[in-house]
Amino acid sequence: MKYGHFDDAAREYVITEPKTPYPWINYLGNHDFFTLISNTSGGYTFYKDAKFRRLTRYRYNNVPIDNGGKYFYIKDGDTIWNPGWKPVKTKLDSYSCRHGMSYTIVRGEKNSISAEALYFVPLHCRGEVQRVRLKNTGSVKKSLKLFSFIEWCLWNAEDDMTNFQRNFSTGEVEVKDSVIFHKTEYKERRNHFAFYSVNTPIKGFDTDREAFIGLYNGFENPDVVSDGKSKNTIAHGWSPVASHYLEIELNPGEEKDLIFVLGYIENEDDKKWESKGVINKEKAYQMISDFDSSEKVDRALAELRSYWDELLSKYVLSSADKKLDRMVNIWNQYQCMVTFNMSRSASYFESGIGRGMGFRDSNQDLIGFVHQVPDRAKERILDIAATQFENGSAYHQYQPLTKRGNDAIGGNFNDDPLWLILSTTAYIKETGDFSILDEMVPFDNDESKAKSHFEHLEASFYHIVNNLGPHNLPLIGRADWNDCLNLNCFSSNPNESFQTTENKKGGTAESVMIAGLFVLYGNEFVKLCEKIGKSDEAKTAQKHINDMIEAINQHGWDGNWFVRAYDFFGKKVGSDENEEGKIFIESQGFCTMAGIGAEDGRAKQALDSVKERLDCEYGIVLNNPAFTKYYIEYGEISTYPAGYKENAGIFCHNNPWIMIGETIIGRGDEAFNYYKKIAPSYLEDISDLHRTEPYVYAQMIAGKDAFKPGEAKNSWLTGTAAWNYYAITQYILGIQPDYDGLVIEPCIPKKWDGFKITRKFRGDTYHITVKNPAHVSKGVKTTELDGNALASNKIPIVEDGREHEVTIVLG
Ligand code: GLC
Ligand code: GLC
Repeated sequence: MKYGHFDDAAREYVITEPKTPYPWINYLGNHDFFTLISNTSGGYTFYKDAKFRRLTRYRYNNVPIDNGGKYFYIKDGDTIWNPGWKPVKTKLDSYSCRHGMSYTIVRGEKNSISAEALYFVPLHCRGEVQRVRLKNTGSVKKSLKLFSFIEWCLWNAEDDMTNFQRNFSTGEVEVKDSVIFHKTEYKERRNHFAFYSVNTPIKGFDTDREAFIGLYNGFENPDVVSDGKSKNTIAHGWSPVASHYLEIELNPGEEKDLIFVLGYIENEDDKKWESKGVINKEKAYQMISDFDSSEKVDRALAELRSYWDELLSKYVLSSADKKLDRMVNIWNQYQCMVTFNMSRSASYFESGIGRGMGFRDSNQDLIGFVHQVPDRAKERILDIAATQFENGSAYHQYQPLTKRGNDAIGGNFNDDPLWLILSTTAYIKETGDFSILDEMVPFDNDESKAKSHFEHLEASFYHIVNNLGPHNLPLIGRADWNDCLNLNCFSSNPNESFQTTENKKGGTAESVMIAGLFVLYGNEFVKLCEKIGKSDEAKTAQKHINDMIEAINQHGWDGNWFVRAYDFFGKKVGSDENEEGKIFIESQGFCTMAGIGAEDGRAKQALDSVKERLDCEYGIVLNNPAFTKYYIEYGEISTYPAGYKENAGIFCHNNPWIMIGETIIGRGDEAFNYYKKIAPSYLEDISDLHRTEPYVYAQMIAGKDAFKPGEAKNSWLTGTAAWNYYAITQYILGIQPDYDGLVIEPCIPKKWDGFKITRKFRGDTYHITVKNPAHVSKGVKTTELDGNALASNKIPIVEDGREHEVTIVLG
């Protein structure tokens, strides 16, 4: 069943039934001020860091689900309702929620009143603008009461949810005219406050939650709204909120707009106060006046739209498959930008207090958005590199507010360093900007330890070389890409985290996946060295790579697929010798992507084994057979029930590795089949089963061994977004930026006749037409640039700022 539809022209997903199978959300904000908003107006707002600067409160895993958000209550006679259905849940005459590119429009109609709430964060603004448009669609005059409502968070989201003995006494607000200011802790160490305004005089307000709602009521029946009258309360401790009360008269056909702004303000220390105890509101008034009319709001919205037009103009596909076009042109790129902004911090499955920016995650995310915002990508790469240690290893994550490494989530994940090579080379190939290699970048955020970024890449490469195990394969450390394959951990204490607890001494477990990763990105390192004239360095590195290939050939091949790892005792993991977990996806993905076994048929054999043992109706599971008991020598992976997460779930992040592997050996039908299985637009019709949004990828879909195969969880913040984008755009459609040109090497289903792509690259625009008259999957027969035949399928960089026609014929 479907709960809405795609509106591709508007780049929106339109939800028409409020009771979606799970809250279907959107993200507002593009730089440092963000909101999560669900299709029923649930969600919250933060500035930069969802843990330390949370403006509004949100209760995860609440009953009922997704309670708390940005609500407007309309009281029309005795009927009370919300434009987004929740929280009152009065049956609406019509309902829709349009999630677009960084804006959401929730619209409800009841008893001849239409109420549309537009929510967005204007570009470069530290505030959320909400425009409520009320219209009388009937034939009699209406007198309505409107109550806005948000609940303040006392800034530190974790403390806010735990430290009640303090927090119930600290809350402070000010109210001036139509603006409610939240200033908890402002008089001590904070230099920031928040406000919530409306662009018209109000009839009343409330800032004390208990007074507004009533101690024993819920969001669905606040006392003030039922009574139809504010109490004009000023919060002293407890739980400060902000509610405006407005009375509105509407003649038949009349329409009125009200504009609310939820803003965040920082003041310099010597400008904090207007007078003793009264905050300096100057900057708040400035922001309010920036959006105090509908024309100004329209202008800001138009700017936001053209910002997205520009971002999405760099890679535009036109194929015979609408579902594919909307993934490639709109939603997959949009999700990549969201993962860039959020990393793994705040979603409806990530609470915003646990995880910051992941070293490996953020590097991988980069391959999904570097073409959109190369400058910000560069900054991100350098920020990440600055948290690296001198020996090449890395903090597993860093905090976005401070940009400092944080060991709360552990370290010694031995795959981490290599992803820096992936992100950096992807950046240079997109931009041609080799100067990034000369940037001086600290190690461990210590300026005195700064070295060139190139030396960081070197450190990454040699961290693997310097940490080999008994089979000359890379030591796995705490874990590799699979956080849950904890081969040195041996945890028997349920109170400790697999991610941070001390490992058993002398751990020599090895990872074949890192070995494949090393060959793949090691090769990139060698190419880069050659490109910049470091040929000795390239030669030395090449030797290490050859040794690694040798080690994989000797110890990493199991007969029908690649081994996954060697455990603490030197026993194979992911081998036919094992009773459970005989085969794993990761080593098949990385070894085949690295071209290992491409010539002697082992790559094909490994991919055939994937198809036979790991593939299912809903995607490719991570391992098989699933673990059915706890293996202390394997760690967290065996804690999950069979079919979920890293234990034989369809972990969508790694499916594209297999898609790419398939394209390396030329099987376009297989690659695209795998693509379609997990791409959300193809799953819209099974929304009941899939449950999460049909416009974005989820991290995990329950695998074939699960209770309910096909059910997804953890939507939005996942490496799945970047990797699927990379697989479809660079390997299936086959447009690959390279240092000195655009390589075009599609690998598509045989029955396709072709497709067209517009690709902006290094200042030029290429209109690429791919024709497939012979109905092959792969192989470029002829290439033309502006009507002239080229000798290879690499389009040289023209760099004249113009439009160019490229025609590729496969065959
Ligand atoms: C999560 C993590 C990612 C890890 C993956 C597999 O998605 O964010 O870093 O690689 O799980 O364990
Ligand atoms: C758990 C999850 C894994 C995630 C990790 C992050 O291990 O299973 O997916 O990467 O937590 O800390």
